[in-house]
Amino acid sequence: MEILKTDILVLGSGAAGLFFALKASRFADVLVVTKKKIAESNTYYAQGGIASVTLKEDSFERHVADTLEAGQGLCKREAVEIMVSEGPDRIRDLVNLGVRFSKTESGDSLALTREGGHSAPRIVHCRDVIGRELETALLDAVRANGRIAAREDCLAIDLVVDAGRRVLGCYALDRLSNRVVAVLARHTVLATGGAGKIYLYTSNPDVATGDGIAMAYRAGAEIANLEFVQFHPTCLYHSEAKSFLVSEALRGEGAILRNLDGETFMKRYDPRGELAPRDIVARAIDREMKKSGDKFVLLDITHKSGEWLKKRFPHVYENCLAFGIDISRQPIPVVPAAHYMCGGVRVDMDGRTDLEGLMAIGEVACTGVHGANRLASNSLLETLVLGERCAARLATEPRSAGVPADVDLVFPEVRDPRALETVILDHDWDLARRVMWDYVGIVRSVERLALARGRIRQILDTAERLYAEYGVSGDMVELRNIALVSSLVVASAIIRKESRGLHYVIDYPESDPAWRKDTLIKKEMESRREMP
Ligand code: SIN
Repeated sequence: MEILKTDILVLGSGAAGLFFALKASRFADVLVVTKKKIAESNTYYAQGGIASVTLKEDSFERHVADTLEAGQGLCKREAVEIMVSEGPDRIRDLVNLGVRFSKTESGDSLALTREGGHSAPRIVHCRDVIGRELETALLDAVRANGRIAAREDCLAIDLVVDAGRRVLGCYALDRLSNRVVAVLARHTVLATGGAGKIYLYTSNPDVATGDGIAMAYRAGAEIANLEFVQFHPTCLYHSEAKSFLVSEALRGEGAILRNLDGETFMKRYDPRGELAPRDIVARAIDREMKKSGDKFVLLDITHKSGEWLKKRFPHVYENCLAFGIDISRQPIPVVPAAHYMCGGVRVDMDGRTDLEGLMAIGEVACTGVHGANRLASNSLLETLVLGERCAARLATEPRSAGVPADVDLVFPEVRDPRALETVILDHDWDLARRVMWDYVGIVRSVERLALARGRIRQILDTAERLYAEYGVSGDMVELRNIALVSSLVVASAIIRKESRGLHYVIDYPESDPAWRKDTLIKKEMESRREMP
């Protein structure tokens, strides 16, 4: 049995994991464990940018106010103030790391764009490929850093927890050798990203299976606000396009939404039109599609020249062209798709969970800054701010505890993966994602949520039984996580008996001041039968 030891174990290699690892390497040895190749993360595919107050005419107060308004009464003001006020320093960190942000024509300051819900231009960006640029710069710095090691193709299965509920590391499946390894660490940091793959249609890559939320829940950590799933209003609608986002920044540059009769419609739903917050735009598109029976709406940026579009949105331009759509001449067919989890493992603004030894940063975490609806481009900002703060916090912890030595390890068993027919896992994987899309989507109802609860429970029970009987395989680990996270999203959605932000239930269409609070769930509620 292989046992690795390190000061700090980081699970995940997107911006959260790598930025934190760089900061923590100032005082500790760090091991980054990642389930595929190191660059494969949600971060890599981000297009828009990072929200940060830059202009003299803008202010921290305005950015805070915009964030609170989008979050519909559920944001934690203090957390938002920390995120906003520390943003400019983190942008400077990235400039120092070599991130090549887009500049103004004169070349002497950062170019800014607007996105939905922002009252000022404040999104710093790298054309439309912030994720690729950021991930590449972080990876270059990580590779040059002697205190950071990385293990690729290594899928975390579960956390190692002692009898006192202290997290001591994790068990992981080395996909290349098909063996389970244990990694023991003084601190374990979840940076595993989101869970878009619990839905049939998502802007997220295949790695986003909610592993961090699932492992933390099974270990007994508190999970918050999972009903607030953000659907990005505009993903490309094309039979061969898998998960291709059409950045909100296009609307920031004047792109207009139309239905298939050619009518603009956003002003009917919100005076801010195309730049209303995402929950409103996604719901408006959903409504238009349901009314007409059409399968998509159109995003029109043909008022911009081909030359301008190639420079500002090279990635969107090229990708759409590859699917036969010249965006300088034709509107783009778009649909909403699952994009971001506003809830997650509950943490404070230093990334601490309620389990000793366990931290969480980035999309897997819920700090309270996003409330009931995340403001565009606040996610990378939160990730960077939390990464710095979590590292600073761990730097102050005494080293006396050391890496755990005498731990009773119970390795999950690996059996012959061929013993279980692939079709069984594939079927339940598809089914779970279809149930979530049809019953727990942009618009919900009490009846659909009740149906989802029954169906998802069956899938989860089957996944747990198969896991116990057939042992660990990559697909099994992910199916078990998808089923569990789906069940937690459904449970959270059933608990909240109102509509707020991203959680819209036709049976309770209004917000209720009594529900101006977080939805908290924990494994011990299951044994007390408090889980819906
Ligand atoms: C986008 O480019 O539209 C995505 C940015 C975000 O999710 O904040």
